[in-house]
Amino acid sequence: MKDPARHPLVVGSGIAGLYVALRLRELGLRPTVVTKARLEESNTRYAQGGIAAAIGPDDSRSLHFEDTVRAGDGLVDRSAARVLTWDAPARIADLVRLGVPFDTEEGRIALGREAAHSRARILHAGGDATGLSIEETLRHRALDAGIDLLERRVLRSLAPAGRDGVGATLATPEGRGIEILDPRPVVLATGGAGALYRQSSNPSIATGEGVAIAFRAGALLSDMEFIQFHPTAFYREGAPRFLISEALRGEGAVLRNDAGDRFLVAEHKDAELAPRDVVARAIEREITRGGHPNVYLDATEIPRDRLYARFPSVCRFLLAYGLDPSRDRIPVAPVAHYMIGGVATDLEGRSSLRGLYAAGEVAATGVHGANRLASNSLLEGLVFGERVARQLLHPAPGGPAAPGRLIEVPPGRGSGRPEEPDSVDEVRHRLWEEVGIVRTADGLRSALEAFERLGDSVEPARKEALPGPVANAALTASLIARAALARTESRGAHYRSDWPRPRPAWQRHIGIRSLPSERPPR
Ligand code: SIN
Repeated sequence: MKDPARHPLVVGSGIAGLYVALRLRELGLRPTVVTKARLEESNTRYAQGGIAAAIGPDDSRSLHFEDTVRAGDGLVDRSAARVLTWDAPARIADLVRLGVPFDTEEGRIALGREAAHSRARILHAGGDATGLSIEETLRHRALDAGIDLLERRVLRSLAPAGRDGVGATLATPEGRGIEILDPRPVVLATGGAGALYRQSSNPSIATGEGVAIAFRAGALLSDMEFIQFHPTAFYREGAPRFLISEALRGEGAVLRNDAGDRFLVAEHKDAELAPRDVVARAIEREITRGGHPNVYLDATEIPRDRLYARFPSVCRFLLAYGLDPSRDRIPVAPVAHYMIGGVATDLEGRSSLRGLYAAGEVAATGVHGANRLASNSLLEGLVFGERVARQLLHPAPGGPAAPGRLIEVPPGRGSGRPEEPDSVDEVRHRLWEEVGIVRTADGLRSALEAFERLGDSVEPARKEALPGPVANAALTASLIARAALARTESRGAHYRSDWPRPRPAWQRHIGIRSLPSERPPR
């Protein structure tokens, strides 16, 4: 390869990875996309609600900006929010150009309402199949453009190489076919870590190893304590935790407890359209108080035709479980949904390591603060993906700002006992129980100890002794727990019953980095 700088590696095939790759190709570079499962499998595919942009006649980018800042509970990076909301209409125009069939009403793109948005500004496609529709369109365009798209290739490690970029090791999911790539620009678009929680809306591949691998290589992480819980996933013993989109509440569905009462009216002036963390915690309280494992979403006031036309996937799913949402209340409970923190980047997606970029859910630009506004996540993948692509065309030095508080910890050497795959169940259980919607110092400490013990394991039968899936899961989980333990307050998605209020001294981001002296040799 003559010039590795023109052959970037993009890791991940959700909205951020595919969009970055397409834009790189359009700008004349030759990216390769690797993805650990099948190309179409990513969190993007499951996004129902839609994508936010101020394109309505009564809306403005300033209003979208203000809503984003308000939802973020004092921690939003205002310049990132400005970029997100200002660039949104142009990125939507790109999606239309690429062929995304957004739903229309009377000849215009239809706009829905979601919690904490002051205007109807959520674009959707196929009713509630927005993510699927975007993913399919981008995947087809990437195939049309002849981009190298490699399935079942897992990123195993990263090694910074200064000006030349970053070296990457790839393998199959089974740990075979190890491939060591020459240093080049690497774009992490590996998504979030929701599947590390026992109750999650995410597909099983969302295990956060992008964060673990970047951390071991020395990249600065930020905001790891902020995991967003979605208030309403379908609840039935043994059934998948299928997301019941917030957009149903935007259309008028209400939440009721076991006794049939609307408990959110007394909780917040916006009731069911209050910020997500408020709704999730109120449901959790109701569940704990009533001893019933779920509450109910009541969509029976939405006209039947509208309900079925606007939410075909949700209705299909519920019918398969014998529920007709136009007549029956839907049993729901909160789930882990979105990783707000991740690899710290600046507004061009540059991490603290030269040549390593991040975009989408794995990146932490500060744009979501302590609590992401609904439907800003697909948008983030596009807006910051575009900026990463442009940066790769004309690279310049840069990187994230120093965090308000920096924690330095040993990276976990992956040199201990062999991994036991069942240990991931312990990670998932402890994250949900001890690093979940309501946290305490005792629970966080006990979880952190367990994650550190598991994080030192290595994949058996692998002489390279690279940390495997258990070590990565445990490391990511330990970083979430460690940041949550450090943040002695409650803010946005992070709630501690021992520190139940926000504290002005904590209006700052927590960065985490591995101790330089303990990083694996390059
Ligand atoms: C939803 O449809 O409720 C999810 C939207 C989001 O997470 O932004």
